[in-house]
Amino acid sequence: MPVTDTITPTGSTYRDRQPERVATRRRLLMCRPRHYDVTYSINPWMDPDRSTDTSLALRQWEQLRDLYIDLGHSVEEIKPVEDLPDMVFAANGATVVDGKVFGARFRHAERTAEGPAYLRWFQEQGYRDVLWPEHINEGEGDFLTVGRRILAGTGFRTDVRAHAEAQEFFGLPVTSLTLVNPRHYHLDTALAVLSNDEVMYYPEAFTPGSRAVLRTLFPNAVIASAEDAAVFGLNAFSDGRHVLLPTAAKGLHAQLRARGFEPIGVELTELLKAGGSVKCCTLELRDR
Ligand code: ARG
Repeated sequence: MPVTDTITPTGSTYRDRQPERVATRRRLLMCRPRHYDVTYSINPWMDPDRSTDTSLALRQWEQLRDLYIDLGHSVEEIKPVEDLPDMVFAANGATVVDGKVFGARFRHAERTAEGPAYLRWFQEQGYRDVLWPEHINEGEGDFLTVGRRILAGTGFRTDVRAHAEAQEFFGLPVTSLTLVNPRHYHLDTALAVLSNDEVMYYPEAFTPGSRAVLRTLFPNAVIASAEDAAVFGLNAFSDGRHVLLPTAAKGLHAQLRARGFEPIGVELTELLKAGGSVKCCTLELRDR
């Protein structure tokens, strides 16, 4: 269990046969979108000719941060750096498991300076087990921890060799999954972790072999529709009970409720213009 105290459930009514979902307190790292903009295009969502509203992005981001705090989580903030408009997507900054920090090394030149900026934050915070990686990997964008296993995406951003590198560093089994749809260029846009042994995902975003692996590992997974995947419904954060996800992913909200989770809709439409939403803005600090 990555976590500590239990948050008291908020007392919603569920049908009796549903499992009681227990939220656990998380420590999260976020980066205020002070310099947010879409000035380049490195994924199909990004159109630099379309205007962005930085103050709206800030307000939407603050709502997400306040929601985390209201739910009992703690949120650390890293100082945004000018000329790094995608730095708001903190999930990409590193992967932290058991207090060990696997640094991020970005695929595109536009984002490479983010890797050292995040790594420095961890060093300043006193993290000692910190690795500057050899191979390209985009942090929790492509590394998702499910209990004592790590699911790892490749195909667009993270180099498959980084999967072995992460397995060696963390000493946890890393399972490679290959993405095929450019609109789901990071694993966290196609799959979300719900609990220590449950996920939800969009099968069409993966190769047939990776789909078969997911069916084997998670036969009871929540399967997202094309509509819910298209509005970034899988770019979600779960504390074991509350699942924060885009409001527009209506089908997923219903499926999650039917399984006893408490879905909470979040509007991050301004950040979606860069191809990011809830999970992209959130890096989980899984301290020992
Ligand atoms: N514009 C950013 C990129 O393409 C968005 C990153 C979204 N982050 C994520 N964890 N999926 O790199």
